[in-house]
Formats: sequence, C-alpha cells, structure tokens
Amino acid sequence: MLSGMADGWAPGGIDTSVPSPARIYDYLLGGKDNFAVDRAAADKILEALPDVLTVATENRAFLGRAVRHVAEQGVRQFIDLGAGLPTNGNVHQVAHEVHPDARVVYVDNDAMAAAHARALLRDDKVAVVHADIREPSAILADEAVTRLIDFDEPFALVATAVLHFISDADDPHAILAAFTAKMAPGSHLILTHGSVPDPSHEDELVNDAYKGSGTDPSGRTPASIRAFFNGLDFLAPGDLVQPRDWPTPTGAPAPKTLTVLAGVARKP
Ligand SMILES: C[S@@+](CC[C@H](N)C(=O)[O-])C[C@H]1O[C@@H](n2cnc3c(N)ncnc32)[C@H](O)[C@@H]1O
Repeated sequence: MLSGMADGWAPGGIDTSVPSPARIYDYLLGGKDNFAVDRAAADKILEALPDVLTVATENRAFLGRAVRHVAEQGVRQFIDLGAGLPTNGNVHQVAHEVHPDARVVYVDNDAMAAAHARALLRDDKVAVVHADIREPSAILADEAVTRLIDFDEPFALVATAVLHFISDADDPHAILAAFTAKMAPGSHLILTHGSVPDPSHEDELVNDAYKGSGTDPSGRTPASIRAFFNGLDFLAPGDLVQPRDWPTPTGAPAPKTLTVLAGVARKP
C-alpha cells in the first residue's frame, strides 16, 4: 500500500500546501516522504495516466542498470540532475558497488530532496547541491562540483525524469548542452524523458495535478528527446527505447497512456 507522512510535520523551508514533483514521485515509488497534497496530486496523475506507476518503477530500475554499466566502463564520477528524494538504489550506492571511491554530486531544487539527501549522507565523496538546473553555470561553479568532479576525466551526467519539468521557454536543450559541453571523451549521458502519445487530454489533467508546484511538465517527441544526445554516440541498442528495454528489448507492449524514453550515450 502507498503511504506517506501525516500532515502538519515538515522541516523548515518545505511547503506542504502545494505538491512537489519530488514528493509525488516518492509516493509513486512507494516512499514515505510525501504529504496529503502530493498524494492527491499523484492520484490525479494516476487517473490521467494509469501507467505512471509502472513507468516510474521501470525508470528507477533503468537508472540503476545504466549507472552500473557506465561505472563498469570505468567512470568514477557522476552528476545527477534532478536526483529526487533518496530511495532504493541511489546513484552513489550503485556506483560505490563498482568503485568504492566513486564521486557523486546530487542536484535538486526541491528543499525536501536536498535536506533528506544531506541528512543521509555521511560521505565526503558524495555531495548535494540544492539548485535549479536552469542555472547550469551556478551549478558548474558550485564548491561541491569543483571539489568532487574533475572535468579532465570522464564523468556521467544523469538526467532521468527531470527535463520534462523544464519548459521550452527555458530551453532544456541549451541547459543540458551546458553540462555535456564539459564532457571529456569517455563521458556518458544517462537520460530518460516523458513522451505522451496524445498530449491533448492527458497533459491537461497532469498539468492540473501539478498546479502550484511551480512546474509545468510536458512530454516531448522522440526527435526532441534524441536531440539531447547531440554529439554523443548511443550505446546498444543504439537509440532511445523504453526504460524496460534497455539494454535488452523485453518485447513487452508499450504502455498505452504514458511513454518514457531512455538512452545512454558516450562522448567519443
Ligand atoms: C520524477 S523525479 C526524478 C528523480 C530521479 N532523477 C529518478 O529518475 O529517479 C524529478 C526530480 O527533478 C527535480 N526537478 C524538477 N525540476 C527541477 C529543476 N528545475 N532543477 C532541479 N531539479 C528539478 C524534482 O524536484 C524531482 O526531484
């Protein structure tokens, strides 16, 4: 059963009167770091897109497989944009199973995600930056990033289920390009992005559910999502696929109401 926090409790700086994408996602993954307002929003999203529960779980599983694979290619540093609330199989846990010395910087603009991650982390190889990815220069200049990430060496940029929260007006491609421009050869991009087959009806309901959270999620076309990978070479299977089909196609039919596309690519 999905459950969460009782209303009335919240650490400083956290607004429990409006839904937060991080807490909605936590609820969908079966976490407890969410409030009534998030659960109500998640229920509306579930009504519009019944596949969201499965897709969220598969997105998270893909993230773990992709991080493990990239670490196995020798990558020892990770920047995770829109990292979310800590849950099972966080990037640093997977990376540390392969390289105990791997360095990870988590970035999220959600106060609760940043606070919880900081509270859990007692590791000088891992840091949390509470920042908005729409400000890449500030993130790249952040003390934690300059201390932990050596841009002369390959790093993995993780941007899973986050860029659909960035509107076209904020130019998500330029935002991502600011990070990929820093990639040394051998760096990797691990990305997933929502792609709604029939945007009209579902988008309206989803946007209504997210109302007040300061975000306006929008699925993008495969071509637009593929453009995030410009200048990089897709790893097998060679293009965007559903998260469940990476790296090996499962043959399972695509969800009807919501598609998330996933890809992993390498800087040549
Ligand atoms: C659906 S969760 C995805 C979490 C994780 N990346 C994953 O795939 O499991 C989206 C996360 O992106 C964060 N986010 C949304 N817009 C953001 C922004 N402009 N800057 C930083 N983080 C953002 C939210 O706070 C939330 O934690």
